[in-house]
Amino acid sequence: MAVWREHARDDPKPSREDHVGRFEVKARDGRARVGALSTAHGVVTTPTLLPVINPNLRTIEPREMWDTYGIEMLITNSYIIWKHEKLRQHALDYGVHDLLDYPGAIMTDSGTFQAYVYGDVEVGVEEIVTFQRDIGVDVATMLDVFTRPDMTRDEVHEAVQETTQRAEASLAAAGSTMLNGPIQGGLHADLRRMSARGMGAHGFSVHPIGGIVPVMEQQRYADLARIMLASMPELPPERPVHMFGCGHPMLFPMLIALGADLFDSAAYALFARDDRMLTPTGTVHLEDLREWPVLMPCVASLTPEDVRRMDDDERMVLLSRFNLEVTLAELAACRQAVHDGRIWERAERRSHAHPALREAFLWLTTSPARGTAPIPAAEHLLMNDRAAASDTSPARGQWESAWDWVVEAQNTPGQGALRWAGEDTFVRPAVVASRRRLHRAWSPVSDDGAVVILHGAPGPWRDRAGPHVMRARAANPALEVLVLSPIGLVPWSFEDLQPFAHVEGPEWLWRRPVDHAWVRRELARLNLEHRPFVTVDLRADSVGDAFDAALRDAGLEARVAPDAHGLTEVELDLLRAQTVDKSMLELNLERSVATAFVGQATFVMSSTGRVRNVKDSQGRHILSPRLGNGGLSLTDEGAKILHALNLGHEAAPATVTVVEDAVPFVGAGRNVMHGFILAASEHLRPGVSCLVLDPEGALVAHGVAQCTAEEAMAMQKGIAVRVRGGLQPSS
Ligand code: GUN
Repeated sequence: MAVWREHARDDPKPSREDHVGRFEVKARDGRARVGALSTAHGVVTTPTLLPVINPNLRTIEPREMWDTYGIEMLITNSYIIWKHEKLRQHALDYGVHDLLDYPGAIMTDSGTFQAYVYGDVEVGVEEIVTFQRDIGVDVATMLDVFTRPDMTRDEVHEAVQETTQRAEASLAAAGSTMLNGPIQGGLHADLRRMSARGMGAHGFSVHPIGGIVPVMEQQRYADLARIMLASMPELPPERPVHMFGCGHPMLFPMLIALGADLFDSAAYALFARDDRMLTPTGTVHLEDLREWPVLMPCVASLTPEDVRRMDDDERMVLLSRFNLEVTLAELAACRQAVHDGRIWERAERRSHAHPALREAFLWLTTSPARGTAPIPAAEHLLMNDRAAASDTSPARGQWESAWDWVVEAQNTPGQGALRWAGEDTFVRPAVVASRRRLHRAWSPVSDDGAVVILHGAPGPWRDRAGPHVMRARAANPALEVLVLSPIGLVPWSFEDLQPFAHVEGPEWLWRRPVDHAWVRRELARLNLEHRPFVTVDLRADSVGDAFDAALRDAGLEARVAPDAHGLTEVELDLLRAQTVDKSMLELNLERSVATAFVGQATFVMSSTGRVRNVKDSQGRHILSPRLGNGGLSLTDEGAKILHALNLGHEAAPATVTVVEDAVPFVGAGRNVMHGFILAASEHLRPGVSCLVLDPEGALVAHGVAQCTAEEAMAMQKGIAVRVRGGLQPSS
């Protein structure tokens, strides 16, 4: 079987004219997105790399990039074309696609980089954009002012202002051609923010992060992370973000996790010229190799020695291919990781590839490194989670809101196991998000009463401890039972909630002695400070005996057996309490509202003893547990009841209001599409259950949001809410 496609691909189909320039998010994982950018030369799947083509010096032919490598978009330099009479005339007469012999989408740069390298360019701001439009590029670039790390703050400030001032004239010159609006600002977070805000206010189609080439050349990756966190939250979410001059695969996972969509680089060809080879974990020299660091199709039948013996040109082309193949493979793996919800794990693993990348990653994930608090002693890191430090750090600094921007976009509860990978596991944004949501949403029923903490063993905890919890509660109705998971303390109600109940790691993660100081801090986060607590080790020979001993220690009654068979009152109470607690977390309800909503619910159980349906006291099916991650799904009836409660905005399920035109479609069960939304509640985020309303506030449907509130208001293409039930079927 051929590894690469051997035959010419068909040319791309142009996107619908009114869709050109739109960017759709097809899948997301936190801030990382797999997207589709519509152009006149086809739809480009992101994240992707635009190989740099030097029109004077082609290492791999653009046609081959399309045919063999499936590359959907490339970048070339309009200034070089403009300067060379022959190229210019050809491009003006026949278009840039003909000049390069490439059928896919073409982005061009403007000469800014040449100005950075050579000091100046002799082309005008509008002139170069007009030229790009005239030669038919898909995405043009305005002439921005490059900001170098060694510039003074005043110089950077001026460059940012000058770039922003050129925006309107450049957009006017571009007409209907998509235009790149680069973000400058050097290493200054405030100037990056200012640039992103200023450029974002104009009608650009794509925002490149500019001025980062010297930052990457000097391997200042922590600065690169700071530039990303400063710029990204300020940019309009409906526009793709391009990393200007970034093509090292080692950097892709982290940058994609922070929201980057497009990359471009000449590295594949430039490195090949001096026998350097890209790998996902760094750069290697051909002369040092006995074996290939990664086996790519182009070298599968060759040894490094064979390649060393090639003549210069042949070797250079082969190594360019190798570098391109490595780059494409890493991008494909990153896209898959986004689909799998594991892009952060990939960035985490990749951070070990280079000390400077590790520094960047630790800066991102460790709050004390972003503020001024000392980093906790190493032995404390496991239990004294770094995430929790960010809850209490007095000096959060200017970065916390940007970190929140990453955390709050996480889809929790997620799917699948939380794979333990050392202390980094505990500061993954999804873990931080899960903890924050738990701490924000949950509070105990009563103000006093004892606490029992189960510890020592991984889930499923219900199998190990469920009957004991029930018997203990039968004797002590006010008892608060919690489980100590490696990522924090969770109320018994969340015994099956991902990620707490799904940590996959070595057994000693659960066997470590209980750190009382940490448990105290965890209790405080759950509004259980000052409560006496006792612990029960789930590894005890008899968990029941251990439970009784703990209860007696706390001055409580030992367990008693509930008397009836099947669903006893105690078990029913526990299930109701669990449903109330989960409704607080998942539907953003206050305890009193959740209690009224769930009321005297009854439960339809599966043959394996799990809840299948939740029915309210009138027998209406209001909720269904989500198998696999411990979440709750709203049903049609449940949505109607919650809507009728008229809860207002804050402590209520998130809402999305659609335009009148969309009502018949959404009411009949079709998804809510971007571009048809009038309003969205602030707490909308990917994965939450939400109510869909018409402009008058009537309930149209309910479903699961795919986006944040800001995205709901800004995006123009794609699914905003996956509708689970349309509530206004057309008559
Ligand atoms: N190529 C690499 N960096 C830059 C930049 O900052 N601006 C432009 N226009 N092109 C670049």
